[in-house]
Amino acid sequence: MLAVIWKVLSYPRYRLISLPTPMERANKLSRELEVNLLIKRDDVMELHLGGNKVRKLEFIVADALSKGCDVLITRGATHSNHVRLTAAAARKAGLDTYAVITPPGSTATQGNILLDRLLGVKLVYVDKVEEADSEMARLAEELKSAGRKPYVIPVGGASELGVLGYALASLEILQQSLSYGVKPDYIIHATGTGATQAGLTLGLKMLASDAKVIGISNGRKSSELASKLTKLFNDTVKILGIDLRASEEDFTVYDEYSFGGYGVITSEVVETMKYVARTEGILLDPVYTAKAMYGLIDLVHRGVIKRGSTVVFIHTGGTPIPFQYAVEIEKYL
Ligand SMILES: Cc1ncc(COP(=O)(O)O)c(C=O)c1O
Repeated sequence: MLAVIWKVLSYPRYRLISLPTPMERANKLSRELEVNLLIKRDDVMELHLGGNKVRKLEFIVADALSKGCDVLITRGATHSNHVRLTAAAARKAGLDTYAVITPPGSTATQGNILLDRLLGVKLVYVDKVEEADSEMARLAEELKSAGRKPYVIPVGGASELGVLGYALASLEILQQSLSYGVKPDYIIHATGTGATQAGLTLGLKMLASDAKVIGISNGRKSSELASKLTKLFNDTVKILGIDLRASEEDFTVYDEYSFGGYGVITSEVVETMKYVARTEGILLDPVYTAKAMYGLIDLVHRGVIKRGSTVVFIHTGGTPIPFQYAVEIEKYL
């Protein structure tokens, strides 16, 4: 398997940040939950407030540059971290970005929308999520006729190249866990478009680790995610030319912690943000990471995650989002 890991490590990559990101022990939460909780700080990166998308973008931007493209097109909700980070990565690489923006969320100049505008993203609003892919295709045609060379990135960077980013992160997580003298029993994170979870699962398989990856869905049903994750995993091993395959049973996703769906903010979500801020001084966001942390805590209480085990929580970012949802959050402060 070393040859396979080497293959991923030597895949073309446009370096956007210095790695590894920090991993810290959450002492108070560990005591309260009676687990050994390590937090992988993928929210701490030097590119425009960071987040999980950056790891995927290192591979995606390298591909766009190798094809001679000069403009990236992608899509996301109003609070999309993926759009912000695509634009920041593009700027670093000397490219422009067009983004198709869909509901939910406010389009006010706050949070990620504010940062998108600072980065000079061309924002194109559509009313329905179902219209977003065809709008990206239309924009690509328009840009081509204007002599540009566009590169379309699927929502969330959910592609084989995106998966590679988190395959490598799993190596980082195992190495850092060793420096704490432990091996993770569980790795838990917010899951949405799938490349993070598919990548971690692939990386851990390559490294023969028996750590269990748990995805907490921010909106999609587990069954939909399981088939998406399986496809992403199997498409990625194809480009690597390796003999691994996944089936839907390889992925564990809980969809009961999205509290009414993507972008819906409830008292549970804000209580979790307050709890983690007041125990560890760590900011969670209300769309992804607070829901994932709520799921982690509940799974410990339910005994699904065993007391005494080592749990790595990946803080996948979302730092600008609380500012975009200040009004909703304030209701529960
Ligand atoms: C902060 C944050 N966490 C988690 C996710 C989900 O990651 P993925 O789309 O790779 O499943 C996203 C994606 O938008 C995100 O922005």
